[in-house]
Amino acid sequence: MTTPHPLRVLRLTASPRGAESESLRLSEHILDALSAQSGHRRLELSSVDLNDVPPVDGGYARMLASPRGAGVPHPGDSLHRSDRLIDQLDRADILVIATPMHNYSVPSSLKAWIDHVVRIQRTFESTPEGKRGLLRDRPVYVAVSSGGYISGPRARQPDFLRPYLQAALATVGLNSLHCFTLEGTALGEEVLTEARRRAFTAVSEYFGRSLSQARLPIQG
Ligand SMILES: Cc1cc2nc3c(=O)[nH]c(=O)nc-3n(C[C@H](O)[C@H](O)[C@H](O)COP(=O)(O)O)c2cc1C
Repeated sequence: MTTPHPLRVLRLTASPRGAESESLRLSEHILDALSAQSGHRRLELSSVDLNDVPPVDGGYARMLASPRGAGVPHPGDSLHRSDRLIDQLDRADILVIATPMHNYSVPSSLKAWIDHVVRIQRTFESTPEGKRGLLRDRPVYVAVSSGGYISGPRARQPDFLRPYLQAALATVGLNSLHCFTLEGTALGEEVLTEARRRAFTAVSEYFGRSLSQARLPIQG
């Protein structure tokens, strides 16, 4: 009997708060649930702290503006980093993103990663019908934490994070996004405790259901 290939999981963490991060903790629960679900397949986890990814540089911006004849990139340029980050993403069977909301959207660390991987002629192409993603689709699980509410009747702020992330990842061909939210982390200990409980339960229920219906594309 052959040993099944491990499931390669790439987990991106965007919070600047390190081990104290709520979104990081929620993503740990997602990883546990994935591990329980994967059965006989081992999870091979690569974690990347996006706070180490700098913004794209001038050479990269020029290259994207005119892909032909933009000069030779130097080692250490954004272009090389972009190649590495895209290869890393492409190798993954599953993507997990742990991110806080910053000013109604993604934090700058996650935006820097997006600017490196959403790249014309490499991860998407422009067609008369619009942009077409070049990466194969795969499950993407997002753990979002926010100081206030971002959904339901108590939300008093816009949420550009989820629609933006959905659109950015769909551009490269990742269309199977599922977001879990942990909302109200700034609203006191009681709200935070309840928010954690609800978010963790949502993850367990989602993967519990997936397991019973065997509908995730990761069985093998
Ligand atoms: C720069 C900055 C901007 C923020 N903007 C928002 C916001 O627009 N809406 C919100 O609900 N919380 C906002 N917050 C609060 C964080 O989303 C909240 O503390 C979250 O739980 C942090 O997640 P983490 O523990 O994973 O870092 C902001 C925090 C920071 C540092």
